[in-house]
Amino acid sequence: MNTHSDPEPLKIGILGSGSGSNAESILSAVQSGALNAEVVCVLADREEAVILERARKYGVTAQFLSAAPFKTKLDGEGEQAYIDALRSHGANTVVLAGFMRMVKPGLLQAFPNRVLNIHPALLPAFPGLKSWQQAIDYGAKVAGCTVHFVDEGMDTGPIIVQRAIPVLENETPDSLHARIQEQEHPAYVEALQLIASGRIRIEGRRVVLAD
Ligand code: GRF
Repeated sequence: MNTHSDPEPLKIGILGSGSGSNAESILSAVQSGALNAEVVCVLADREEAVILERARKYGVTAQFLSAAPFKTKLDGEGEQAYIDALRSHGANTVVLAGFMRMVKPGLLQAFPNRVLNIHPALLPAFPGLKSWQQAIDYGAKVAGCTVHFVDEGMDTGPIIVQRAIPVLENETPDSLHARIQEQEHPAYVEALQLIASGRIRIEGRRVVLAD
């Protein structure tokens, strides 16, 4: 029997479009026991996305699901297909890990306060695409990543975890992106473990940690 101190493992469905390094870090944390969760499925909107291979390596169900005809959002029949797949695999938490689409109210309402995203900047600075490039172009001295709950805006939901790093002299977009990604991997696991341990409460915009 589960008690308050022994919560049920999260049932995570991961959505991605690309390389899946964050997905792999989550899969590895689950395997090692660092994260009290089960990854129940990995879904990708691109058939050739490497994230699917990474998931299969861990023995996790990995499926290409078309989100056509839209290119930059998950809406309509595609959205319903994703909701159905997540539900059929028993997901209760949706992790966006390099999923290159805006999610819409249908998915958010199907998993209230249980859709998370990672963004390669210290929000609210530099939302949108190529945030590491935006940080360099702006002349920022600090960069980083943000794990946040997803709401209907673009990179605007309540912040769970942030990690900061300095922008170095002679930094290139590639070097900054790579160093941000090193921070993303533990940050996502940390945020998910906070949720898994039942220690998180959302108060308006603020994510509050219980004792
Ligand atoms: C990450 O940089 C993340 O911040 C952004 O998309 C990228 C995904 O990388 N949302 P990966 O597929 O996890 O390697």
